[in-house]
Amino acid sequence: MKLIIDTDPGIDDAMAIAYAAAAPEIDLIGLTTVFGNTLVHQSSRNARFLLDKLNLPVPVAEGAHWAWGRDFHDPSVHVHGPEGFGDVTEIPDLDQNHHQPAAEYLVDMARQHKKELVVCAVGPLTNIADAIRLDPQFASNLGRLVIMGGAVFRPGNVSEFAEANIHHDPLAAQAVFETPPETVLVGLDVTLQTLYRSADFEALARQSPEIGGFLSEISEFYLRFYQDVAGEDGCGLHDSTAVIACSHEHMFETVETGLRVVQDGPKRGQTIPDPENPPIRVCRDVDGASVVDLFTRRVTALP
Ligand code: RIB
Ligand code: CA
Repeated sequence: MKLIIDTDPGIDDAMAIAYAAAAPEIDLIGLTTVFGNTLVHQSSRNARFLLDKLNLPVPVAEGAHWAWGRDFHDPSVHVHGPEGFGDVTEIPDLDQNHHQPAAEYLVDMARQHKKELVVCAVGPLTNIADAIRLDPQFASNLGRLVIMGGAVFRPGNVSEFAEANIHHDPLAAQAVFETPPETVLVGLDVTLQTLYRSADFEALARQSPEIGGFLSEISEFYLRFYQDVAGEDGCGLHDSTAVIACSHEHMFETVETGLRVVQDGPKRGQTIPDPENPPIRVCRDVDGASVVDLFTRRVTALP
């Protein structure tokens, strides 16, 4: 399966990219970057660093600096650390970004790999909405869009109502839900059922000292955040769960519904079922232990 991950790395994004590199059924052809957990230049630098570490020479196309209708962004430093990788703040700035911006690259790749390309969006949906706006054929050229975002049947994480990726750019999310490609939504409804605990990270680091060790090191900050905010020993495998859904949708229970996004007020970013918009598949339940187990089995095969 040809895959592009649209990402804001980001600790759990780094885990998802490592998973994609390890999964034999995934052919990761590139990354596109977006603001979100970090500023976009940090997302791109972190993406290039990870690809080098994973020995995967594929392009990084940089995308949106901020949300539709805004000209600034406050990164989630309290969740992902000042540079996106927790307490690890010295991140080499390796190689260069692809010459095309993210939306153009996505449009070209969807055209080139007609109906075969899967895009897994694990940050704000700005690049995806830009690609839909840039090319009216983008949605129909795409094989599938798998989104980590939203909280349809349970409370959010940035507020009682909203999940972070949708909250960062509700206008872009609404635009995607109005004219979606074939889409699967992997929201907090399922990603908070895939908790990765400190003991899981210890095992990962033992069996995969280089990659697992790095993921374990950057995750200490993330685990502290979950402990402080939710009293949990463990963090959601948010972005990895979405990448796993790209190839293992059978592990999820889905319901079909259109969605709309609340744009303003205290419920800004809330994802609400709306029959006026085209139906997408929303993941409602998952066997979380199987997702955690698959993630560990795959990533421990890395050095
Ligand atoms: O709400 C979880 C999402 O927000 C994940 O994509 C995480 O990386 C953060 O961006
Ligand atoms: Ca992310």
